[in-house]
Amino acid sequence: MTDYVHGYGTPEQERLVEQAEHWRHRLIRDGTRLDPGTRLLEVGCGVGAVLAVLGQEYPGVELFGVDIEQKQLDFARGHLERAGVEATLRQADALALPFADGSFDNVWMMWFLEHLADPPAALREARRVLAPEGRITAIEVDYSTCRAEPSTPALEALIRAMVQGMAASGWSDAGTRLPHWLHEAGFRAIDEGERTFWWQHQDLAGQASYAADVLESALPALTQLPGAAQEELQAGLQDLRNLASQPNAGLGWVVHKSTATR
Ligand SMILES: C[S@@+](CC[C@H](N)C(=O)[O-])C[C@H]1O[C@@H](n2cnc3c(N)ncnc32)[C@H](O)[C@@H]1O
Repeated sequence: MTDYVHGYGTPEQERLVEQAEHWRHRLIRDGTRLDPGTRLLEVGCGVGAVLAVLGQEYPGVELFGVDIEQKQLDFARGHLERAGVEATLRQADALALPFADGSFDNVWMMWFLEHLADPPAALREARRVLAPEGRITAIEVDYSTCRAEPSTPALEALIRAMVQGMAASGWSDAGTRLPHWLHEAGFRAIDEGERTFWWQHQDLAGQASYAADVLESALPALTQLPGAAQEELQAGLQDLRNLASQPNAGLGWVVHKSTATR
């Protein structure tokens, strides 16, 4: 495993805020029910971007977040205050959560397990802090499912590099593996929650720009890969940003929003 692929710079922290806003309705809110009084822990909460959305969409939910990186939590404090959302934040490793058994009704993990060496170990630890009927929501993508039409050799090379880069630093196919990991960690009543997105027409420009931002954030790590050609990866990014101006263009990928009971 190499270093965290996205890094902790301010532009990346701001990208996480935009990313959570991007997915506010289609992934965070859609299919989520959280009653007031629910105690929810986000593991790998980063800059508090998802916690802010959850707090705004589900008033009365008691929010907690942990992240291994103090810089993320420092940013999160300001972000949550600006968003008008209260949350208790702790610096902690997902493998050793500083909470007693059965402390939460819900654990949330988003764009997180893909960065870990041992995702089932983090899921077992999450299960430990869940109450007996507690539930988990985990959201991950599989980069190998990313397709663009019309594609170009440079864009294909960029997607291949992202798959290779994620595999080198964690998991490129975390979404596809998620249901199996939940099962391995002892969760039951698993809903795989596979969601295939295919963006066209008026949705395409925003989604292509979002995907380009995600890939660009990993570019410094991708250019370190053996055989990586920086100019080709940059050209792929340009092709992705121009995709919506092509006739009959489309872009898609598969995300899993998996839920399960302790
Ligand atoms: C891509 S960010 C996602 C943040 C947030 N879930 C979101 O969607 O905005 C992944 C986060 O996981 C954190 N992280 C990585 N390994 C961790 C670990 N072992 N324990 C806790 N947090 C970890 C990183 O510091 C980073 O903030």
